[in-house]
Amino acid sequence: MARILITSAIPYINGIKHLGNLVGSQLPADLFARYMRMRGHEVLFLCATDEHGTPAELAAAKAGKPVEQYCAEMHEVQAGLARGFGLSFDHFGRSSSPQNHKLTQHFAGKLDEAGLIREVTERQFYSPTDGRFLPDRYIEGTCPNCGYDRARGDQCENCTKQLDPTDLIDPRSAVSGATDLELRDSKHLYLRQSAMKDDLDAWITSKTDWPVLTTSIAKKWLHDGDGLQDRGITRDLSWGVPVMKGDAPWPGMEGKVFYVWFDAPIEYIACSLEWAEAQGLGDDAWERWWRTDKGADDVRYVQFMGKDNVPFHTLGFPVTILGSGEPWKLVDHLKSFNYLNYDGGQFSTSQGRGVFMDQALAILPSDYWRWWLLSHAPESSDSEFTWENFQVSVNKDLADVLGNFVSRITKFCRSKFGEALPEGGAPGEREAALAAELQTRLQAYEGFMEAMEVRKAAAELRAIWVAGNEYAQSAAPWTTFKTDPEMAAMQVRTGLNLIRLYAVLSAPFIPDTGARMLEAMGCEDAGWPTDVAEALNALPVGHGFTVPDVLFAKISDEDREGWQAQFAGQRKD
Ligand code: MF3
Ligand code: ZN
Repeated sequence: MARILITSAIPYINGIKHLGNLVGSQLPADLFARYMRMRGHEVLFLCATDEHGTPAELAAAKAGKPVEQYCAEMHEVQAGLARGFGLSFDHFGRSSSPQNHKLTQHFAGKLDEAGLIREVTERQFYSPTDGRFLPDRYIEGTCPNCGYDRARGDQCENCTKQLDPTDLIDPRSAVSGATDLELRDSKHLYLRQSAMKDDLDAWITSKTDWPVLTTSIAKKWLHDGDGLQDRGITRDLSWGVPVMKGDAPWPGMEGKVFYVWFDAPIEYIACSLEWAEAQGLGDDAWERWWRTDKGADDVRYVQFMGKDNVPFHTLGFPVTILGSGEPWKLVDHLKSFNYLNYDGGQFSTSQGRGVFMDQALAILPSDYWRWWLLSHAPESSDSEFTWENFQVSVNKDLADVLGNFVSRITKFCRSKFGEALPEGGAPGEREAALAAELQTRLQAYEGFMEAMEVRKAAAELRAIWVAGNEYAQSAAPWTTFKTDPEMAAMQVRTGLNLIRLYAVLSAPFIPDTGARMLEAMGCEDAGWPTDVAEALNALPVGHGFTVPDVLFAKISDEDREGWQAQFAGQRKD
């Protein structure tokens, strides 16, 4: 038994996430966490909301609410949706927690002691009308690259060019529209990432088993152009973690906060403190996951994220950890994802384009979505959601292959033998062949799950369902029954045991359905199988079961067309 620490990139607080966000980190992380728990490992699975930065402030302003209240409410909304999708976090924390404030200030103090922080005076826009400095997104203007007149201070949405506020032509305040902006000096802290370049390079080079997507992005940032740049870690905002050196004030930095990308990854650790507190546990409970001097050397730490997050996790956060000089746990394996597109374009939060988590659950139960998203996870390349493809997968994989099998076997048994496993002959050659095939497939499935090969694991699970269908097709107890009821009884018994086996193996992907199947089989034991032949005889003769309601309803052409129309435009709320 191993100890496995799993974190998912923490979603921004500003608004409900779309299915592309979900499949890019939280959902595959959940798949892995569920699987590892079922295999008997000790798992700590953490996620949180990412609550600081200008997007949070601006979203709160737009909603007409104080930012604290906006974040508290939106955290509850996101937590509810996570539950709705069956995301089995041990804790869903908040980067605005007191624990994260303290830990972020602690790391800043340690980095300063290590000589890794320098002070830089920047020329920055100040708005006398607004009475404040205006960092990145608080400035709008005309893009010097493409001429788009609503470019933001950090990036032009139209041509995607990364910008500095001072690059903008005719800059104005995004808060008030004021144009009487002045350039004033403002002092900021820079993290001397460049000083740690060689350590990072050596560390990343040692990760030979990481996906190429991950290491190539990290190496590019390390070596392209001037190489790794020092990075500003403070902002002139009021919402965020106040800049402090541990618990001491930081002279000259009064009224400033840490940059959101500095405090957000630290929340991975702080979240475990929140978890320990919520469980009524002491410091040793979280320290054994994070402090290598307190046993965390034995922990395997796996992070899940979208590809845009990779630089922050391979460079930024490791600088914080390594630079602190303290014995914190570093990530062992980093699983990153490409993008999921929506029907010929991109999912977009700002444009309300695509299907969002709340809308998805309003249409269909979470297992439909979990199955489609995971079996189409954008691993080796970007992938695309279309309603046609969704309809085909649900109808074929879930309704025909899995659902129909369960329904046929249970209904046939009920009509001919009653609602208990029938007696009958001993398993024969066909059953032995089935067990042998499933044994091989089980091993392949486990290998893909271990390796976080999400699509391949889904394909193998589907092949396991198909093997059962083919068995039922060729054994055809409904025909056998006419000439050899004994044999038909044994075949049906095998089929019912297959349902139990499928309930267990499918649970990481479709947990609600797995639970329903297990319940229908009158079985509480969700123990992972080792020997398939044994598992196919696990439920004894006379064991009662019930016929479950339809597991998956087919999606009709009408449904699909309706949803296509409903989701063609922009989300309006
Ligand atoms: N909120 C960021 C995003 O959605 C992810 C932050 S991950 C962490 O892209 F490292 F900061 F935790
Ligand atoms: Zn532009």
